Amino acid sequence: MTHRFENRVVLVTGAAHGIGAATARRLHAEGAAVVLADVDADAARRVADELDGNGPGRALAVPCDLTDTASVDAAVAAAVDRFGRLEALVNVAGGARAQPGLAGGVSDADWSATVDLNLTGPARCVRAAIPHLTSRGGAIVLVSSVNGLQAFGDEAYSAAKAGLSSMAQNLAVELGPRQVRVNVVAPGTVRTRVWDHQGGPGRMEPLYPLGRVGEPEDVAAAIAFLASDDAAWITGVTLPVDGGALAGPLQRMLAPAP
Ligand SMILES: NC(=O)c1ccc[n+]([C@@H]2O[C@H](COP(=O)([O-])OP(=O)(O)OC[C@H]3O[C@@H](n4cnc5c(N)ncnc54)[C@H](O)[C@@H]3O)[C@@H](O)[C@H]2O)c1
Repeated sequence: MTHRFENRVVLVTGAAHGIGAATARRLHAEGAAVVLADVDADAARRVADELDGNGPGRALAVPCDLTDTASVDAAVAAAVDRFGRLEALVNVAGGARAQPGLAGGVSDADWSATVDLNLTGPARCVRAAIPHLTSRGGAIVLVSSVNGLQAFGDEAYSAAKAGLSSMAQNLAVELGPRQVRVNVVAPGTVRTRVWDHQGGPGRMEPLYPLGRVGEPEDVAAAIAFLASDDAAWITGVTLPVDGGALAGPLQRMLAPAP
């Protein structure tokens, strides 16, 4: 394992479960001090304890609700208070809610709650982190979804995730001169708790040319790359991490069975 994050402090939201926990583990394994920010504070603490069990105290769990500005600000402040600085922000927290679409008459409240978690929440995190990142240069990685790049249903979730790409492009231009890079990772189906709601094994695999759905570690590896100096000249992009799902779904559906 390379050590691209030695002496770097990274705040990961949504780090208690799934992709966020895998990202925290990956960054920690590469030498980072990791702040695990999650609304599920107990589970975040368990992951932090697991990480610190393997070495010096480089993991800190902090409670953080993306839908609450004061909570986000406090999480970033706690990170800086403990480690003295922040070199990267990875926003993983988010998710779809079971709710009707526009044609099904989704309520304003449900629409707003989805956009609040998946677009405004990451914006809150970015706003709180910017003063610390711009003081030393750094990286921001936002986790979107293939839903933000192509129609897979759920307009509120998809529109919010698509908004992250626009946000990243605008931030990339604004923060580039201050040596802060801003990129987005757009996963396809990944085997986390969400997997249970997508029908489990067998249903999604045919959509993926590589023959399997993703593992949280597949996405964590892409996040680590974009957050690291290996991506020093990459900013403002949205990287699908999707086993090829977006490469040619129509052709795959029409192809004769092997
Ligand atoms: N799993 C997939 O198939 C998939 C596909 C595409 C995109 N994504 C995106 O990846 C991200 C992570 O998803 P996952 O599958 O790991 O889900 P998950 O449910 O396993 O993890 C999400 C984490 O976010 C936390 N969280 C939820 N609401 C929060 C809030 N208000 N404030 C702070 N933390 C909050 C949860 O406690 C949890 O730890 C999400 O943004 C999701 O939209 C997932």
